[in-house]
Amino acid sequence: MLELRDIRAAYGKIEVLHGLDLTVAAGEIITVIGANGAGKSTLLKAISGLVKLSGGSIALDGERLDTLSVEQVVSRRLIQVPEGRQLFGPLTVAENLALGSYSRRRKGTPVTERLKKVFALFPRLEERKGQQAGTLSGGEQQMLAIGRALMAEPRILLLDEPSMGLAPIIVRDIFATLRTLNQEGLTMVLVEQDARIALSLAHRGLVMERGRIVLADTSQGLLANPEVQAIYFGQRAGGRAGAGSGGGR
Ligand SMILES: Nc1ncnc2c1ncn2[C@@H]1O[C@H](COP(=O)(O)OP(=O)(O)OP(=O)(O)O)[C@@H](O)[C@H]1O
Ligand SMILES: [Mg+2]
Repeated sequence: MLELRDIRAAYGKIEVLHGLDLTVAAGEIITVIGANGAGKSTLLKAISGLVKLSGGSIALDGERLDTLSVEQVVSRRLIQVPEGRQLFGPLTVAENLALGSYSRRRKGTPVTERLKKVFALFPRLEERKGQQAGTLSGGEQQMLAIGRALMAEPRILLLDEPSMGLAPIIVRDIFATLRTLNQEGLTMVLVEQDARIALSLAHRGLVMERGRIVLADTSQGLLANPEVQAIYFGQRAGGRAGAGSGGGR
């Protein structure tokens, strides 16, 4: 469905993506994990057209995407939930959701139906539909950011650190909703620093380090990988990092 070939991207003269390959099949959740500054957000921005490639190509169902404008990419229903949510703070929840539907206001499911669907997934948003987005809690803002993206009826949802700054219980809630959406057929590319929860949701994962993909495997494979455990799973269980219980590999 989505195919990235040897993509490169730079800010000014500094290249931060050094030739990445990635294919995403319809219905898949791919997660990209990696430390701060690895280039994860840049990768998502390259897919959504916010960052132009300096090499390589991106195609969606065979159509070149990297030569299109951001608006044209959105119209192909590749929709990004940005890092830091980027809501319109002074506008209400309902107004933010309405803006999400704008790129597809005359096509697809009627907007009122989409709104119902979003409110069914996130009842908290319905309770707060008249509230200014800027006054929502962090978890509610993340729900709104995802809800707003869903209003565009994505075929592929690009998520940048949906767990950021949220309590574990809210994160579990949001990830459960993402799982539901995937079971309904939505394809996702999920960038996360919380490797454990990301791999528990995704089918496959990539590990990025300094602008390169250094590991790619099924989620089970990565979860069982001692190196991944040591570097990305923090100091749980008394920091037996790399002790290598082994698991599936
Ligand atoms: N607008 C920009 N201008 C210049 N350099 C940038 C810009 N955005 C990102 N970078 C640099 O590109 C590199 C990759 O950044 P990116 O935001 O993609 O990393 P990340 O993996 O998403 O990190 P984090 O986990 O902290 O969000 C970093 O070295 C960063 O400083
Ligand atoms: Mg980032």
